Amino acid sequence: MLEVQQIVAGYGRLTALKGIDITVRKGEIVFVVGPNGAGKSTLLKAVSGLISPTSGDISFLGKSVVGNSPEHICRSGLALIPEGRHIFKTLTVQENLLVGSLVRRNSSEVRADMELVLDTFPILRDRLNGIAGHLSGGEQQQLAIARAILQRPSLLMIDEPSLGLAPLVIDQVYESLRHLNKNGLTLLIVEQSTRRMMELANRIYVVRNGNVVLEATPDNLLDERDLDAAYFGFASQPA
Ligand SMILES: Nc1ncnc2c1ncn2[C@@H]1O[C@H](COP(=O)(O)OP(=O)(O)OP(=O)(O)O)[C@@H](O)[C@H]1O
Ligand SMILES: [Mg+2]
Repeated sequence: MLEVQQIVAGYGRLTALKGIDITVRKGEIVFVVGPNGAGKSTLLKAVSGLISPTSGDISFLGKSVVGNSPEHICRSGLALIPEGRHIFKTLTVQENLLVGSLVRRNSSEVRADMELVLDTFPILRDRLNGIAGHLSGGEQQQLAIARAILQRPSLLMIDEPSLGLAPLVIDQVYESLRHLNKNGLTLLIVEQSTRRMMELANRIYVVRNGNVVLEATPDNLLDERDLDAAYFGFASQPA
């Protein structure tokens, strides 16, 4: 579904991605993890067209999207929830959700999907006319996910969904992501922490300093110490 090949990208003279390969297949949950400044957010920005790679290719549903506008990429079914969620804090919950559906034309489908997201996130139904900025961090993350779902993406990319949330709330957010995935949504999730992903991921990429340093599936990653070693950049110790 998504094929990132040898992407080089950055900001001016700073090369943040130094030739990255990532694959996401339909129905999968793929994690990209790595420390601060590894290039994770830059990767998502490149895929969603917010920055242009200097070389390499990104194809989505079999077509190269390099050079396409973010709007075009979004309309082709690829949604991004950026770092920090970016909900409209002064609008109501309902207004935020309607913004998510703006790229859609069929209003009866939108209404049906609205019901679906409100069933998935009942707290949002309770707060529909409340101001989004008054929601808790976890509720705001749920709103950001719900809004993205209303774009009806075939691939949803989320930058650090657990950022700033309490462990119990993170569990709730991940439970809803698991539920959405079961219903057919493909997910590419960026996190700093490697916790929680072993049970969810179909594939894990560890990114450091603009490079993929480890690609693993929970099955072939027999030793979590290898994951830590890749993440922190030291050789794993023999048992
Ligand atoms: N807008 C920008 N302008 C210039 N440099 C940037 C910009 N955004 C990121 N960078 C730099 O690019 C590199 C990769 O940053 P990026 O935000 O992709 O890292 P990250 O893996 O998402 O980190 P974090 O976990 O802290 O969010 C870093 O060296 C960062 O300082
Ligand atoms: Mg980031």
